[in-house]
Amino acid sequence: MIRMSGIYERVDLPASLEGGGGLALAASGGEAGGGSEPAPEVGGPGRRGSTVAAAEAPAPFAGVPALERLEMELLLEAIFRHYGYDFRQYAPSSLRRRLKKRLEAEGLSTFSALQDRVLHEPASMEALLRDMSVNVTGMFRDPTFFRALREKVVPMLRTYPSIRIWHAGCASGEEVYAMAILLEEEGLYERARLYATDMNSEALERARTGIFPIARMREYTTNYQQGGGTRSFSEYYTASYGAALFHARLRENVLFAQHNLATDTSFSEFNVILCRNVLIYFDKDLKARTLRLFGDSLSSLGVLCLGRRESLRFTTVEQEFEEIDPKERIYRRTGLPRAPRETGGGG
Ligand SMILES: C[S@@+](CC[C@H](N)C(=O)[O-])C[C@H]1O[C@@H](n2cnc3c(N)ncnc32)[C@H](O)[C@@H]1O
Repeated sequence: MIRMSGIYERVDLPASLEGGGGLALAASGGEAGGGSEPAPEVGGPGRRGSTVAAAEAPAPFAGVPALERLEMELLLEAIFRHYGYDFRQYAPSSLRRRLKKRLEAEGLSTFSALQDRVLHEPASMEALLRDMSVNVTGMFRDPTFFRALREKVVPMLRTYPSIRIWHAGCASGEEVYAMAILLEEEGLYERARLYATDMNSEALERARTGIFPIARMREYTTNYQQGGGTRSFSEYYTASYGAALFHARLRENVLFAQHNLATDTSFSEFNVILCRNVLIYFDKDLKARTLRLFGDSLSSLGVLCLGRRESLRFTTVEQEFEEIDPKERIYRRTGLPRAPRETGGGG
């Protein structure tokens, strides 16, 4: 499998960040299964032409012409086999919407034409990747979540000599800086190691700089205060030329690294995993695979934090967790044995 140079690389963590637990995250490459949904019935000997009535397509594809669906699946297969990025198990409706957007931007009319272009023009593939990776984020996003972290998770973290936290799907890092600030204020930052990963290398580059638009500082200040912050938020950055440069100390204990939840593994133990507003883009099977990965990567009594519209309800790992704060989607692994491995079945 060819991975785009500069876009995807193996994640080897420097020893200084291993925190005694060994190598944390590693790319395994192309392990995810194929597209999980059955192909639409497009006919046997008496082929029925290029479109299938809405009622015949599986629900997420209702109303989508069968030929378009086929072309979309072939495009995703080609991207996976040539570049190693696996979007085959993303939630179909938002996937299609974003691919359509790229189609339009490229001035093309079919997914087959787009397939040809992305295979032969890496710049076009990079543009597609940008479209596929929705980087909307913010500091202390959903402030009450951060308040709940302070009140319900921090007391537990205080009892640990060292703390390992994984931000999976961290986008441009605002969530990670917010966590660093929270830990600093709670006197826990010194003993913490934060692993911040995303499939999007450009977003990670932005995260590494610690530079964010000054225009958002007012919003972040409000979020910070509502999230339980008691200092002056402006203590944490220096304003210069329309940008806010966050203090280097906040990323001293952070490792930003590329990692793809659809194809890569993790073989480390974390005390806390945050994966907020990422699973909503995955279909049921990929969501189940990712939750299995998190279940296997958490220490006993480790904490899992999901986004507002995500939950463990009706998933295969549900029994392994208890709710710490159901509204804020904060869960803790129980001491119960892990469920047997299986594919699919997550919700
Ligand atoms: C909406 S952002 C969420 C950022 C942050 N967690 C938050 O809640 O503000 C979703 C992020 O998930 C990342 N993402 C999507 N699919 C991924 C995958 N398969 N592996 C890793 N990251 C992925 C995207 O690149 C994007 O940066």
